[in-house]
Amino acid sequence: MKTLIGFILLSVSMAGTTLAADQDEIVVYKSPTCGCCTGWVEYLEKNGFTVQTHNTDRLNEIKARLGLTDRRLMSCHTAVVDGYVIEGHVPVDDIKRLLSERPKIKGITAPGMPQLSPGMNSEIPKDYDVLSFDAQGNIEVFSSY
Ligand code: CU
Ligand code: CU
Repeated sequence: MKTLIGFILLSVSMAGTTLAADQDEIVVYKSPTCGCCTGWVEYLEKNGFTVQTHNTDRLNEIKARLGLTDRRLMSCHTAVVDGYVIEGHVPVDDIKRLLSERPKIKGITAPGMPQLSPGMNSEIPKDYDVLSFDAQGNIEVFSSY
């Protein structure tokens, strides 16, 4: 019995470690009825990300808490990965680049609802920009499609 408890404790602590070290786990906040948000979550999973989805009606509150107060940056869903905010239909290549370059920014966003974006009408991003934003209010183009 002692061995069994020891084993369980070991498993739990190991699971905790894995979670904390897992760069690819992304937490997504979305409204319960958003179809394109679900499309984006499925796209992330297809591309190897572990996604924790939270349905909520208080998205604006969550955005504000994460420092996303500029309306021009906003989209339908808000995600967090490894301390960075990912707003809207951002392609996985940008998320991977962000996690490897680790710039001093708050996050990246695809404002509005780009028609040819993953989760919308095209898994291959086309005709829009992904922007970076920081705590000082600077907004820059992160990548263009
Ligand atoms: Cu959307
Ligand atoms: Cu969405």
